[in-house]
Amino acid sequence: MRETQRFFDTHPRGVVESDALRQNWLFGAPFHWMKDWASPTSIIAASGAGATLTDIDGNSYDDFCLGDTPGMFGHARPELARAVATQAARGTTFMLPTEEAGEVGALLAERFGLPFWQTTLSASDANRALIRWARAVTQKPVIVVFDGCYHGMVEDCFVELRHGRTRSDAGLVGQALDVTRTTRAVPFNDIGALEAALAQGDVAAVLAEPAMTNCGMILPVEHFGSARRRWRRRPARC
Ligand SMILES: Cc1ncc(COP(=O)(O)O)c(C=O)c1O
Repeated sequence: MRETQRFFDTHPRGVVESDALRQNWLFGAPFHWMKDWASPTSIIAASGAGATLTDIDGNSYDDFCLGDTPGMFGHARPELARAVATQAARGTTFMLPTEEAGEVGALLAERFGLPFWQTTLSASDANRALIRWARAVTQKPVIVVFDGCYHGMVEDCFVELRHGRTRSDAGLVGQALDVTRTTRAVPFNDIGALEAALAQGDVAAVLAEPAMTNCGMILPVEHFGSARRRWRRRPARC
């Protein structure tokens, strides 16, 4: 109660703006997950520099999210701001490759040792593409995810475990196909459940974060990461 009052006292403009956002944005924000915070109303960002975020009331925060990775170099890094401004002045979206695409492709191949690359515009797109590729390569239909995961706006991943069974997430409205036929959820850190999910021999891919970050922070128990890697090295089993 005291903390809530303190929030209202220190975020007067934010509270008003948060209300205003409800006028035209479904759930009161451009993306639904912008509401997934513990504060009584949204914090309305004004600017960022390095690892610091400032809101429209002038409160500053140590930002551990960094824009959910796009800002992994820090907010408003001058070199990046300059490069983006230069490119914006030349035009940013042509539906055609540029000379720089050749340079970037070569750098990616050199750095990661993989010859062929494709880009996507979001992690959701990347995961959707990966699921399709995995199914195409393995000719298997099922993907395994961990209960409590979030892999973006990817219908295949909107499942949860209820009473030990994979169920569609309640938020997956308007879904015509039953994703639980091709997605299996298992509890994170449960090597036995993972082995059982894989034992059916129909799994194309396991989607996982090294540590769960979308249902609190859950670190892998000892051996969990190596168990997952072991399976990856034995595609013939699945
Ligand atoms: C683990 C994970 N995967 C995917 C996404 C989706 O990212 P994007 O908004 O770039 O599609 C998120 C976003 O929170 C995420 O945390």
